[in-house]
Amino acid sequence: MKLYLDTAELSEVESGVRWGILDGVTTNPTLVMRAGKDHEEQIKKICGIVGNVSAECVTESRDDLIAEGRRLAAWHKNVIVKVPLTPDGLGAGRVLAGEGVRINVTLCFSVNQALLAAAIGAWCVSPFVGRLDDINEDGVGLVRDIVKAYRETGVKTKVLSASIRTPMHVTQSAHAGADIATMPFKVLESMFKHPLTDKGLAAFAEDYKKGRAALAAKKEPAASR
Ligand code: G3P
Repeated sequence: MKLYLDTAELSEVESGVRWGILDGVTTNPTLVMRAGKDHEEQIKKICGIVGNVSAECVTESRDDLIAEGRRLAAWHKNVIVKVPLTPDGLGAGRVLAGEGVRINVTLCFSVNQALLAAAIGAWCVSPFVGRLDDINEDGVGLVRDIVKAYRETGVKTKVLSASIRTPMHVTQSAHAGADIATMPFKVLESMFKHPLTDKGLAAFAEDYKKGRAALAAKKEPAASR
């Protein structure tokens, strides 16, 4: 499962790239607004440091979405255009996909919606795990069901587990067969953490120092002769 960051913060993307574990970024209007940056400038900057960057359309009609999608795709070859799971969104997505634009169909909350995304040849579909959990539905269960339906029908559209809120969502998305999980920076950071890693590291560092000191003590008499 590929790991993406769900962010519009450049410093977070840079950290993920430096750590060598990041394969992409998803953004949405809320994240761009929170970053307080110009949409086009920020997407171009992110595309300059990592591949597979989802940029979301904000218009509503099919024609407007087609025009907007073309504009976003022209920003950079790494841009994946996000369209909403509406009749107009999918209609526009089909036209854009036909032109070679990679499409991420967003705001997916059911297997049937995911089948519609597959029907337009979307590059990926984004089921929103956390938002389903918020209303007492099984978000990861939906990811599992979409993966199953896609495998059974030979669909190539990738399943991108989105609206991830916890490290456990990441583990569960992998078990559910998601191709990609996109997460906030704090969740990505928390994937590194285990108390036994810290404890082991401290013990190795201490033993290394002790070993060097012991060796130096052994060599000392010979050096003084
Ligand atoms: O990837 C979609 C994501 O940004 C939505 O997350 O936490 O607002 O449900 P959230």
